[in-house]
Amino acid sequence: MTVTIVGSQLGDEGKGGIVDLYGDSADIVVRYQGGDNAGHTVVHDGETYKLSLVPSGVVRGTTGVIGNGCVINPETLFEEIDTLRERGLEPDVRIAARAHVIFPYHRVLDGIEEEAKDDLAAGTTGRGIGPTYEDKAGRRGIRVGDLLDSDVLRKRLEYAVSHNRALATEVYGIDPGEEFDAEHLYETYRGFARRLENEGMVVNCGEFLSSKIDAGATVMLEGAQGTAIDIDHGIYPYVTSSNTTATGAPAGTGLAPATIGDGEIVGIVKAYLSRVGTGPLPTELGRVEGQTPADGGDREASDTATYIRDEGGEYGTVTGRPRRVGWLDMPMLRHAARANGFTGLAVNHLDVLAGLEEVQVGHAYELDGETLHSMPPTTEQWGRCSVVTKTFDGWPEFDPVVENGYETLPAAARTYLEYISEELSTPIYAVGVGPGRTETIVLEDPF
Ligand code: IMP
Repeated sequence: MTVTIVGSQLGDEGKGGIVDLYGDSADIVVRYQGGDNAGHTVVHDGETYKLSLVPSGVVRGTTGVIGNGCVINPETLFEEIDTLRERGLEPDVRIAARAHVIFPYHRVLDGIEEEAKDDLAAGTTGRGIGPTYEDKAGRRGIRVGDLLDSDVLRKRLEYAVSHNRALATEVYGIDPGEEFDAEHLYETYRGFARRLENEGMVVNCGEFLSSKIDAGATVMLEGAQGTAIDIDHGIYPYVTSSNTTATGAPAGTGLAPATIGDGEIVGIVKAYLSRVGTGPLPTELGRVEGQTPADGGDREASDTATYIRDEGGEYGTVTGRPRRVGWLDMPMLRHAARANGFTGLAVNHLDVLAGLEEVQVGHAYELDGETLHSMPPTTEQWGRCSVVTKTFDGWPEFDPVVENGYETLPAAARTYLEYISEELSTPIYAVGVGPGRTETIVLEDPF
């Protein structure tokens, strides 16, 4: 049986906490897309773990698989594994032989392409994610399985480096460093390959997972980022380069679509919006210079933005930069519920909104005289949408007694949750009322 966890908004919905919570009942936790752009925080036994590539379930001793739909930076992989080991854990991590490898030249190109794009820049994480997926689609990528064969690696590198070096020097006019030196890369990546082999980490992902499921294993598929930054269904071009939706799960693991579809698909919803990156955001409160478009954001609402940002700790973990915040966007959620086929919802960070006199949501959009209940297909149209809001009574700060279940929540907070559930015709499985593992009210365990 599988349970797929998907972000329903723009990433950072708190998927890690839900994966950690439900992951108890899973034998295997799998990532199916993305790479080390997916910063997630897991709090376990009072310890905080920050991971960006390794599936968060490994913190609890579950086998973690990085599927073929992912792009893997071996340096990050080993750093994360080593850090977990230093902290007394024994992470069991398997890597798909078909997953693509991020090379240093991808990271260099990510930076210079972003600079060159100006207004079209997505505000990427700079980890080389996009250029690696570009090479994958351009059939010049190098996969984990290729690292293990020295002749294949040498041959593939020759072509991939010559292509990317020409791009860097002839198109962007940069002076290439060792990131574009095929011999240096060969030696370094053969070193990574030896470690992958010695530790028996490389698997044929689809077969590995199918055989475990046939033997009765339960599998959790952990989506990274969110639906609105899916390469196909998101706000292109301000998106990441993979299918973050449940659609990505079969392609990115080698499991059959029916296997995923027969299981549960849980949408993770943050009780408000937060955004790292550029592009329009119709329900945005206040502004973040450098990210909010010139005509975007509600300048009058900067105090509310600051309140939510402070209560929710909405500042970049590495940079400390404020994140963009906004009211919950229901057309975005309706789009996500349809595209993913959610069977349940986990609503996080409900505590962050406590203390506000009133809480608004973007209930619908108006565009060219029409009312829309879902996102329009182009980002230019989305940017022109004005928001039809709905106002709810706020709820006071509360001291959640999680064991008392749903009833522990203030009545106004329950009204807000019930509205979300009804609008999306999807039951609520869990409500996050704080960052810790014990601060989630569980109404339903999908396993
Ligand atoms: P990339 O994935 O680094 O190529 O970045 C592409 C877009 O996705 C940018 O707007 C990033 O800010 C956004 N993004 C990537 N990963 C995350 C994430 O884990 N949370 C939120 N946004 C993300």
